[in-house]
Formats: sequence, structure tokens, C-alpha cells
Amino acid sequence: MEVIIVKSAAEAARKAARIYKRMLDEKPTAVLGLATGSTPLKLYSELVRMCENGEIDFSKATTFNLDEYVGLPEGDPNSYRYFMDANLFDKINIDKKRTHMPCGNADDVNEHCAEYDAKIRLAGGIDLQLLGIGADGHIGFNEPTSSLTSRTRIKTLTKQTISDNARFFGGDPDKVPTHAITMGIGSIMDARMIVLLAFGENKAEAIKAAIEGPISAMVPASALQMHKNVKVIMDEPAASQLRLREYYDWVYERKPEWQKDA
Ligand code: F6R
Repeated sequence: MEVIIVKSAAEAARKAARIYKRMLDEKPTAVLGLATGSTPLKLYSELVRMCENGEIDFSKATTFNLDEYVGLPEGDPNSYRYFMDANLFDKINIDKKRTHMPCGNADDVNEHCAEYDAKIRLAGGIDLQLLGIGADGHIGFNEPTSSLTSRTRIKTLTKQTISDNARFFGGDPDKVPTHAITMGIGSIMDARMIVLLAFGENKAEAIKAAIEGPISAMVPASALQMHKNVKVIMDEPAASQLRLREYYDWVYERKPEWQKDA
């Protein structure tokens, strides 16, 4: 796991955007795993800016999002499809037919989830997966005690996640759906490369547990310790509880320049 601590979320976004650019330059047909929430917003703005300037090309890329709420009507402004269209897909040169989200209104949820995993496999697997992290250590909506080998399925959100996400629903936790379809931890671990972004002090405890704690289903993000190509890019407040903080900086300062965006 590569731990990169930067001064601000904006710097992290620029760094992550360079990783996307490099991926798409090398493999224009790359399969990108995407996330929603507050964390990726600056990265998405940076990707939009780069696309407008002709610095990055999404025209042959395919995307799969991590998760979607269950039960929101189609076109609901709180659905993750709406979020992705508004913050990224409508602003870049991607073919919308190649952007995939779990469907929160599938008639047969189990069948839909199995199909979602199959579609990812058929597309050749995810080349670069973007993740945020919940204050409880979740990735996707894999809440604590999720199986570390889980595949795409329906999950019940914890009260903490519901209250954390109430800000998107006018502050009312009762409006937040209680269930979501999420790629499993096993599905996420299949990605060839993973970039996790974390900003703010309320992520510090989860980041410490994920990076330096034991691997445990109680901290789903700790499964990433078993992945061979993960970069965790965070700001200072998110890094504030890391015990080996100085070592991470020491390692990063000694990386050859060419390796930094790899
Ligand atoms: C969203 C997702 C979640 C979020 C996490 C952090 O697609 O998979 O795991 O990344 O809940 O949310 P924010 O970024 O809003 O703090």
C-alpha cells in the first residue's frame, strides 16, 4: 500500500487526475471504477477541466460505479446516476452507453447483482478503481462485518452512514434510503489498481485502522492491505492519526519523479 499525504484535497485531486490521464494515455479503452460522495468532487472537476482542454480522452473508456441507493425513483437528484451525470459524465467526452451503475430498482436484485459482476468481467475487469472511505471504514457500501470476499449485492446501511449522508437529503436522515446495492469487497479487490482518497479529520480514525490496523471485516477498507497496487492519497487532517506518518513522507520523498503518477 502506498500512502501519500498532501497539503490539500485540491492537490490530491490533481495527483489522482494525473493517474487517470496516464492510465487513459496508455490504455484508451481502460475500464474505470468510480465513486460518488463528497470525496471525488474535486477530482471530477479536474478531469472535466482536463477533458475540456483536450488533455484527457474518455471517448473509448468504460466505467462501473461502486454503488447505488435502493428505491429512489429514476432521475431522483439524490441517485448516484444523477450525481455521476451532473458531476462527470455530462461534462466529458464519454459514451454514456459505456457508463454502468447498479440499478436501485431492479425487479430481481440478486440476479441484477450477479449480472453487474458478470458485466465487469466481460469488460475485461476494472483497470483503475476509485474509492472514498466512510468514517466507519466502509468502502463502497460495504459496512463493517461485510465479508472480505463479498461480490455485488444489497446491503443495509449503518445508522452512522445514514446520518453522514443525510446532508445530501436536506439533513433529514429519514429521507436517506436504508439499503444500497454495492460492489462487494471481493469485486473491488479484483481491480488491477486502486486509488483511495480521504479528506478531513472525520476520516482519520478509519484511515488509521485501514492502513495500520489488523485486517478485519470490522474495517472493510483494511482488506486493501492485501491488494498489490493501492495508493491512498489523503490530506493532513485525514493522516493525523497515522503512527508511521514520518515514514510515509520519507518513502514518498525518495520516489523517482517518473514513478509518482504511476
Ligand atoms: C460512494 C461510496 C462511499 C463513499 C464514502 C465516503 O460511492 O462508495 O464508500 O466513498 O461513504 O463518502 P464521502 O466522500 O461523501 O465522505
